[in-house]
Amino acid sequence: MRGRFITLEGSEGSGKSTNLAYVRQRLEEAGIDVEVTREPGGTPLGESIRDLLLDHRNSDMGTDTELLLIFAARAQHLHERILPALDTGHWVLCDRFTDATYAYQGAGRGVPDERIATLESFVQAGLQPDLTLYLDVPVEVGLARAGARSEPDRFEREAVAFFERVREGYRRRASAYPERIRVIDASGPLESVQRVIGVVLDEYLAGHAA
Ligand SMILES: Nc1ncnc2c1ncn2[C@@H]1O[C@H](COP(=O)(O)OP(=O)(O)OP(=O)(O)O)[C@@H](O)[C@H]1O
Ligand SMILES: [Mg+2]
Repeated sequence: MRGRFITLEGSEGSGKSTNLAYVRQRLEEAGIDVEVTREPGGTPLGESIRDLLLDHRNSDMGTDTELLLIFAARAQHLHERILPALDTGHWVLCDRFTDATYAYQGAGRGVPDERIATLESFVQAGLQPDLTLYLDVPVEVGLARAGARSEPDRFEREAVAFFERVREGYRRRASAYPERIRVIDASGPLESVQRVIGVVLDEYLAGHAA
């Protein structure tokens, strides 16, 4: 049986990577084989593209170049990992996917949605996540959490207004796809965020038994 494709979305410091480990654990406890990955990246070639995208020395990267690199990495990711895993019955758990492109390159950078949709249908040929957990936090909260880490990358150097647009972009996506995208208030303590994620997963598993 084909696996399910679950993505985690949210802006910087919303808790995607932290909660990815929790989601993985919950799925494994339910006896599901899980393949964990991330975007941009997930393959050796994709991780090299990720390095190009995040390198703050590439401050002159054009918006179209950025968009094409993201979809190039995604094409490789689908070909090399995501589709083979789903085809062999594994569930794929991915830290960011195309909703992030609509939020960052679309809402954040101002690329028209239709332009992104053209590349999306070219590269994904209709593939969409089965379930997306969108971790929503106020921009200041996320940036404060993320800021405690290393030197800021090319995205982390953006102004607060950029991240406000990204958040709005994510919220618009969630309103447009309410069946697929579950909005999770990720501003509270980790235990309460995980309680909500647990409820959403239990409900999903009940409806889509492995
Ligand atoms: N609910 C929470 N309350 C407080 N701190 C949290 C919460 N969730 C995550 N954190 C902490 O915030 C920091 C950022 O979390 P994490 O790395 O999971 O975010 P992220 O969404 O993956 O960020 P990025 O987009 O930058 O990769 C980590 O130090 C993590 O421990
Ligand atoms: Mg992360």
